[in-house]
Amino acid sequence: MLFLQAYFYKMNVLILGGGGREHALAWKINQSEQCGKLFLAPGNAGTAGFAENIALSPEDFPAIKSFCQEQNINLVVVGPEAPLVAGVVDYFHSDPDLSEVRIIGPAKEAAELEGSKKFAKEFMAKYNIPTAAYRSFTNGEEAAAQSFLEELKAPYVLKADGLAAGKGVLIISDLAEAKAEAAAMLGGKFGEASKTLVIEEFLDGKEYSVFALTDGKEHLVLPVAKDYKRIGEGDTGLNTGGMGAVSPVSFVDDSLWVKTIEQVVEPTIKGLASENFDYAGFVFFGLIEVNGEPKVIEYNVRMGDPETEVVMPRIESDLLQHLWAAANGNLADEKIEISDSFCTTVMAVSEGYPGSYEKGKVMSGLENLEDCIPFHAGTKLVDGKVLTAGGRVIALSAMGANKEAALAKSYAAAKTICFDGIQYRNDIGFDL
Ligand code: AMP
Ligand code: GLY
Repeated sequence: MLFLQAYFYKMNVLILGGGGREHALAWKINQSEQCGKLFLAPGNAGTAGFAENIALSPEDFPAIKSFCQEQNINLVVVGPEAPLVAGVVDYFHSDPDLSEVRIIGPAKEAAELEGSKKFAKEFMAKYNIPTAAYRSFTNGEEAAAQSFLEELKAPYVLKADGLAAGKGVLIISDLAEAKAEAAAMLGGKFGEASKTLVIEEFLDGKEYSVFALTDGKEHLVLPVAKDYKRIGEGDTGLNTGGMGAVSPVSFVDDSLWVKTIEQVVEPTIKGLASENFDYAGFVFFGLIEVNGEPKVIEYNVRMGDPETEVVMPRIESDLLQHLWAAANGNLADEKIEISDSFCTTVMAVSEGYPGSYEKGKVMSGLENLEDCIPFHAGTKLVDGKVLTAGGRVIALSAMGANKEAALAKSYAAAKTICFDGIQYRNDIGFDL
């Protein structure tokens, strides 16, 4: 009887995506006793070890539908933003054939919190959530945008309204250059994405990331994290997808944490409920501390990468159960348990990243890793060999009683892994 009951509750799960974030989500979900079959589309060499990778694009909704039907999928977890902004949740919720399948992520309307900077700023203004002062402009309003720039102090922050592959935010110190860029962006420098432009006040402070899981009314708060965005040590050089992360974050003390929850997280979740958004999923608050006060830099409607690689190892309770509760609108009774340990991750990247780089380099050393949780970011399994398949290749996560102990393990792992051209930052975890 007991066996039957346990069997009955096993869930088949499909995770969309194939980076370090999805590997970390899969690793955590796979620890749940309620996890039945686990699939990733497309997954990577790391997830192939314990789950089944399927060669489907997260944006091919009809193919995902067929797969869900064939494999009796109970829960779909959407990793990246693109399928959300393209409406994968709406697709599932409007198809009677898929009425039994639950999906983690917001519907398209609420995904605009990430998909449109203007939409996000208007939401924050409406719900009194602290953020930088701003104005938005559309194509044809070049002169107005330029005179607004004259009212601001340098540096100037120009943001393409839409998704621009992480390249749509420009921070410019020279007024004349900022004016020229504003005109270029409105003229379509980033295509449709920049034909609406947000210009905002520059905020000077330290950035941190907070994540919540919501069912649209209630929420659980996940561990706080910080990512290290730039390619070079001292956080210099080009922006990347993220070169490493730590959790918890030393400057996020009790006072800043309480303000973040009261002024940002709770009003945001209340706002989602007031707007009646169809939103069972993660909310990612990109924050900056300015003189002890939290301000929102951006919302994302998914988990962060590489933050997920330090957040997941610190969650002690059953994530799959929390996700199932969120997807069913039952989050009120869930309690999240978080470890007091520290987690750090160091991202090993390909030579040339974030510019052009070669793929297909053979990785070795994985079998020699000790006390490390490797999350593959851009790898592929070919003829039993792990090959590099992206700019960010592998996130080397480790736990420790303090940040230094965790970092020592992440860096020992970075020295153990080999592939031609391997690079990583040596200053992950340092206070910037
Ligand atoms: P976003 O795509 O909105 O996250 O912006 C990318 C990066 O630009 C952020 O992570 C910040 O480092 C920086 N940034 C964005 N907005 C501001 C701002 N108002 N003041 C200072 N830095 C900003
Ligand atoms: N680490 C930042 C992001 O995922 O957008």
